[in-house]
Amino acid sequence: MKLLKDKILKEGSALNRHILKVDGFINHQVDVELMYEIGKDFAGHFKNYQITKVVTIESSGIAPALMTAKELQVPMIILKKQPSKVLNTHLYQTIVKSFTKGTSYELTLSKKFISSNDRVLIIDDFMANGEAARGAVKLLKMAGASIAGIGILIEKSFQEGRQKLEEENIEIYSLARIKKLDQNVIEFF
Ligand code: G4P
Repeated sequence: MKLLKDKILKEGSALNRHILKVDGFINHQVDVELMYEIGKDFAGHFKNYQITKVVTIESSGIAPALMTAKELQVPMIILKKQPSKVLNTHLYQTIVKSFTKGTSYELTLSKKFISSNDRVLIIDDFMANGEAARGAVKLLKMAGASIAGIGILIEKSFQEGRQKLEEENIEIYSLARIKKLDQNVIEFF
């Protein structure tokens, strides 16, 4: 998506070979118009996929997921992150390890909101190693839902997230695929 790539080049910054800073328009301050255009793009791509719900992971996925759900006219569900394991029979739960942040959290989904009748589109801001997306897929499969695909704003293609998800036969549609990052270097495919 040219709009997003241009924004990244203009306002994003590569801190090092691994981290792209985009807190001026995605992670901290949110560019609402950009999110609206992103929502329209995702909705256009997935419009014939019979999506019944859009699912995201708190917190930075919420804005683009909301816009996408609005365009597709379906509900949006936020998967919650909990710091510790609290067993709860009303929830589906799985542990996600974040390599970027060096932390683990428990991803949770209430059994009330997803069923085997659902066909779900997952939306998130970044894909790095794909652990968050794989956690989301696991929870949705526990609920018996089918996964229509994953929409990602920024894919760091030099990490192995796409490969892992494609091995599970899940389509990934990314708006900006980064080939290389380094201090002051941002290269797209
Ligand atoms: P993975 O799910 O693909 O394996 O990614 P990973 O665990 O490594 O990423 C953990 C967190 O770090 C996620 O945010 C993700 O969005 C963020 N992240 C990964 N790479 C980058 C990057 O290059 N730049 C920025 N700005 N963030 C990155 P999170 O913990 O879920 O936080 P939130 O922002 O959604 O609240």
